Amino acid sequence: METCKNYINGEWVLSATGRTRDIICPSNGEIVGITTESSSADAEAAIGAAKEAFYGAGEWRRMGAAERAEYLLKIAAEIKASAADLAKTDTLDNGKPLREAEGDVDDAAACFTYYAGLATKPQGGTYDVGDGFGPMHSYTVHEPVGVCAQITPWNYPLLMSVWKLAPALAAGNCVVFKPSENAPLSTVKLFEIFDKVGLPRGTANLVLGTGPEVGAVMAESRDVDMITFTGSTKTGQTIAKAAAGNLKKVGLELGGKSPNVVFADCDLEGAVEWAMIGIFFNAGQVCSAGSRLIIEESIRDRFVSRLAERANALTIGPGMDNPDMGAIITEAQMEKILGYIESGKEQGATLVCGGERYTEGECAKGFFIRPTIFDNCSSDMKIVREEIFGPVLTVQTFKTEEEAIAMANDTPYGLAGAVCTKDGARALRVVKEIRAGITWVNCCQPTYNEAPWGGYKMSGIGRELGTHGLEEYQEVKQINIALETGPLGWYEN
Ligand code: NAI
Ligand code: MG
Repeated sequence: METCKNYINGEWVLSATGRTRDIICPSNGEIVGITTESSSADAEAAIGAAKEAFYGAGEWRRMGAAERAEYLLKIAAEIKASAADLAKTDTLDNGKPLREAEGDVDDAAACFTYYAGLATKPQGGTYDVGDGFGPMHSYTVHEPVGVCAQITPWNYPLLMSVWKLAPALAAGNCVVFKPSENAPLSTVKLFEIFDKVGLPRGTANLVLGTGPEVGAVMAESRDVDMITFTGSTKTGQTIAKAAAGNLKKVGLELGGKSPNVVFADCDLEGAVEWAMIGIFFNAGQVCSAGSRLIIEESIRDRFVSRLAERANALTIGPGMDNPDMGAIITEAQMEKILGYIESGKEQGATLVCGGERYTEGECAKGFFIRPTIFDNCSSDMKIVREEIFGPVLTVQTFKTEEEAIAMANDTPYGLAGAVCTKDGARALRVVKEIRAGITWVNCCQPTYNEAPWGGYKMSGIGRELGTHGLEEYQEVKQINIALETGPLGWYEN
């Protein structure tokens, strides 16, 4: 197996550490790849290359937007051309069902296409300013921020990379990128595509390694103008502190504990299915997972038993077999989830289904957890308060709309929230009260390249995707042009 290398200044290079990392398939524990394991020196080399490319050569930022867009369209086409390989790579690396990985690849190509289009659209404004200083033309231009460092998690390996790289490149930045050490392989392939389409040297740099060794340098470096990160709230806080040294721009997409509020007047079968998608999609390893079911008391028994019936019927297995639900990313992550399940039992929640590792047949070699539902949960329980990042749903009940809203907002997080009801006015009232950046009515989880993605409260800072996602990677400059030259007569002498 060939060792995957860093991509720095347009060259594929092994880290001088000589260390490597085995990349493990969580479906069976087998090695599916090997990567070079970088040190801080590699991170610094990549930052240096991006800095030189941006401030020195400046080819990418000076290029016309239409030409940059051409590159992004070529990247989208190459992603499509190697879609099958990319999907298989994410399935082996991450454990997700193949059809979910195929969906991620489609979204990744569409994201590059979207930002290719956006790069060439009108930006900035002109302002009708006062004439105290004489006639003036005032307008704004959007410029790239500079050197952007980007760090991603393992739950959507290719797609999270693309959500960051596409807008940053569209805006004309140069980038240093670190994927999660748990699932880096599809990002390596994405950089092979960058190499193939011939992005100018140093425009996009890849460093493979861990957070403490490589990520920390990216967050701290004074040569980095912006850091964007998706992952846990705890690591997000560490990054924000490190970023304070040179007050680099920060974009954080962090954890969640999102409520799914279901009223008695919902379409029951529809709401059950969305609740399942909310918590069992990607085995619950989704920042926006609808992990807290908040349900009107009168339908609780019917709803929860139907949900459990369907959860128990989900097929579990290796991603390549296209089961309903795949593996958990690592053994450590699986143990962490099992620990939460134990704490739920200890704190008195009622286990309705699942609650254990799944070890049928070949799955004994992998890291699988049965779809798990806890009823009779209360807001002081650890399983209700903390992001579990696994297929574990908590159920709480309410009698009034006010109670439901209070319960939904009783969390330090504010990434997402859903409401199911056939009462349109109520849906709008509840959605308006939910303190979260992404909300759904009578559905849960759909995401679009066109719409901004990000959280309130401790779920993050800033937005990805859509026009907001492009603007995150831009500085706005105001330009004021005096329309008359010559003395203004401001001073008497
Ligand atoms: P993490 O947030 O520590 O890791 C995500 C990325 O940050 C990885 O690329 C990692 O190498 C990097 N990183 C770690 N420490 C860093 C540091 N000090 N400076 C810079 N970069 C650093 O998440 P991890 O360890 O993979 O998972 C732990 C928990 O985080 C999960 O159990 C889950 O609850 C949560 N999580 C949440 C995600 C979300 O999207 N909300 C995504 C992944 C994990
Ligand atoms: Mg892996």
